[in-house]
Amino acid sequence: MLDWDVMLTPYKQAVEELKIKLKGIRDQYQLTSKHTPIEFVTGRVKPVSSILEKAKRKNIPLNELEEKMQDLAGVRIMCQFVGDIDTVVELIHARTDFDIEEERDYIKHKKRSGYRSYHMILRYPVQTIDGEKPILVELQIRTLAMNFWATIEHSLQYKYSGKIPAKIEERLQTAAEAAFKLDEEMSKIRGEVQEAQQIITKQRESIRKRN
Ligand code: GTP
Ligand code: MG
Repeated sequence: MLDWDVMLTPYKQAVEELKIKLKGIRDQYQLTSKHTPIEFVTGRVKPVSSILEKAKRKNIPLNELEEKMQDLAGVRIMCQFVGDIDTVVELIHARTDFDIEEERDYIKHKKRSGYRSYHMILRYPVQTIDGEKPILVELQIRTLAMNFWATIEHSLQYKYSGKIPAKIEERLQTAAEAAFKLDEEMSKIRGEVQEAQQIITKQRESIRKRN
């Protein structure tokens, strides 16, 4: 018998530590006048019922869960703009407190369902009373629009036990396209805002120099 509490405790620790660290990045940006690439962060340990369901569906033996189920620990970073995702990915690459095992870019290559997000599998060292234990964490980085779509689609997957009717699947693909357009439009507006800010800064500087 697996003692789930014992097995999952370091996963909980990893999620909590990463949430604090990522929120720290957000707080640091907010102290500067720079736009923060992180809007908010969430995290969870997979519920035991979901672990059992997925292990069965994917034929993963319970004694191989820790290596083969890479999303026992999950952390999600939401961004305002698509460009922010690149910034976050760079910040993650620059860190020295964990290793990156794998990266999947479902933004450049969206999934058939319409799903978009940037995924990274981290190997995060947790300090336990028995020494250091490396924990796999699935990090999902997405915009607010991508998150909106994925949340709705996920509830529908759940409702229809993974077999969404074709009509609704089509609607979801149309909605994914709309979310993509929204991200594009917002990125253009972001460029406009930044240009305006640069113009204002330059004007202020030239006025200061003249007087
Ligand atoms: P799973 O984790 O079982 O999906 O298998 P995988 O190893 O192929 O990983 P993948 O990168 O495809 O997906 C990992 C996670 O991304 C999932 O657990 C979901 O949280 C999310 N995800 C992937 N595809 C979809 C999708 O089509 N819709 C939604 N809502 N989420 C998705
Ligand atoms: Mg999948």
